[in-house]
Amino acid sequence: MCGIVGYIGPKQATPFLIEGLKRLEYRGYDSAGIAVFDGESIETRRAAGKIAKLEGTLTADPVTGKVGIAHTRWATHGPPTERNAHPHLSTDNTVAVVHNGIIENANVLRKQLTELGHTFRSDTDTETIAHLVQELWEGSLEEAVIGALRKVEGTFGIAVVSSKDPSKIVAARKGSPLLIGVGDGEYFLASDASAILAHTRQVVYLNDGDLAVLTPDGYKVMDINAVPIRRSVERIEWDLAAIERGGYDHFMLKEIFEQPTTVENTMRGRLILEDGTSKLGGLNMSHEQLMAIDNIVITACGTSWHSALIGEMMIEDLCRIPVEVEYASEFRYRNPIVTPTTLCIVISQSGETADTLAAMREAKRRGAHTLGLVNVVGSTIAREDDGGVYLHAGPEIGVASTKAFTSQVVALALFALKLARKRTLSVIRGREIAQAMHDLPAQIQKILDRAAEIEKIAEEYKDAHNFLYLGRGFNFPAALEGALKLKEISYIHAEGYPAAEMKHGPIALIDEKMPVVFIAPHDGVFDKIVSNIQEVKARGGKTIIITSRDEPALEGLVDHEFRIPETVDMLTPVLASVPLQLLAYYIAVKRGANVDQPRNLAKSVTVE
Ligand code: F6R
Repeated sequence: MCGIVGYIGPKQATPFLIEGLKRLEYRGYDSAGIAVFDGESIETRRAAGKIAKLEGTLTADPVTGKVGIAHTRWATHGPPTERNAHPHLSTDNTVAVVHNGIIENANVLRKQLTELGHTFRSDTDTETIAHLVQELWEGSLEEAVIGALRKVEGTFGIAVVSSKDPSKIVAARKGSPLLIGVGDGEYFLASDASAILAHTRQVVYLNDGDLAVLTPDGYKVMDINAVPIRRSVERIEWDLAAIERGGYDHFMLKEIFEQPTTVENTMRGRLILEDGTSKLGGLNMSHEQLMAIDNIVITACGTSWHSALIGEMMIEDLCRIPVEVEYASEFRYRNPIVTPTTLCIVISQSGETADTLAAMREAKRRGAHTLGLVNVVGSTIAREDDGGVYLHAGPEIGVASTKAFTSQVVALALFALKLARKRTLSVIRGREIAQAMHDLPAQIQKILDRAAEIEKIAEEYKDAHNFLYLGRGFNFPAALEGALKLKEISYIHAEGYPAAEMKHGPIALIDEKMPVVFIAPHDGVFDKIVSNIQEVKARGGKTIIITSRDEPALEGLVDHEFRIPETVDMLTPVLASVPLQLLAYYIAVKRGANVDQPRNLAKSVTVE
């Protein structure tokens, strides 16, 4: 979603702000802007489009100063124009604000402020904050910001500067992430650690309700009543290479190719081969609590929801506990049945998705134990859950999720294995699964070594208008995920379906122009899916089959085939997803699409 950066210290702010914005561009990217205090007044520069456009504006018309804030926007209120780009100024131009989130009572505030003589110059909800800070000014920036925040309803991560109190940045959060970077005699602000990693690894994560004041001499954190709060300084463990493309054409390709390592990292120190189980220290659940779970709800959005569906099948199969998978956006507004013996698993790469966070809070309110499967260390879900399993996949910058997905499935498998071995699973079966998990990284590498085969298939189908993805059992969610990858980066319409459901409607779409991707490894439902392949072939459809063995039953049914190694049924989606990711990637590249920054999408959706 939108990104915020800020700088205060002895150096010029603009180069840092631009560099930080570029590192955040993956989160949202329809316009950008900066505000710098130049010693006399607040100077802003803004541009619609990518950060490069803003850089052009700054080259033509530079700004200097050692205090500044900046923003990259993903539009919610008002179109992505320069006029709506942040920062927004107060009527007297003394206050500049950048904001992530949504101010829900913006219309009411706008009316009141207009009546008080304020002039609005954008269509955004954010601008109300700048006018409120001006209106409520009594001498210090933090007091005015506190006054303004008392009047706004909604969610926010904000950074504010003022020429009337110029050696300060005031930041506050409620629902949108923010952190302070503690440098050597300089301080940074960012909505995402990747913006500041080149300058410091020491960060202070702000919690909802926190307000921070940064000056050239230090920072303080307080609550909305100005009562000081202590927040500890934490160290970011990943290095800069993790957030750079490292010779790959796109972050997405780099992240696809990282999967042997990222899957390994998810399992590192957790898989116990000889006992056929796993060790998950972060669960924070006693043996008794684990044994008392009598139902599980898994909630997530998008790709994470697809991994949840695989998790449901694994847990029900291995642990014999009923599992419900819920879209977080639906769960939060339903009246779900959650009891103290419900375990609510929350899956999120970013750990910041607004709907997922709200769903987790709702489950907590109803007494469930919450367990976060999260990638971003220190993210809000990771800090608010009762227990967690970090994915350790490293920063995912490509907007289309790839390595986080495979790590989520592996993390779910670790959890299922642990719970199952406590309840219903024999050591023999446990060992078989653990060994299969252990073998995954090398198997993924074998698939990646043959990426060129997928690129060839992509060449053939790059001009298709529609795609169907069909799978059964564990690979029905893999079909959904394959279709999502294709549509979000190539803009080809694609649908995922349980293969046998095709007969109940989508079969009408099949003709010789329709490519159908079957995810058909040699698992327990292979024979069943062969019938579905026949049904497509009989109607002239083009078949692209992801399978794992040379199989006479497929003779005459295959237009294109890609072999994945064999593994236990429940892990087949981990392997099958890799060629599907590559297929989406190569098709999108061949169509000239911007793979890392697909239109209209944002990396982490921090508004509902
Ligand atoms: C698709 C994609 C999204 C995310 C979804 C949830 O490639 O990336 O569908 O999976 O927005 O995001 P997280 O996992 O960060 O909660």
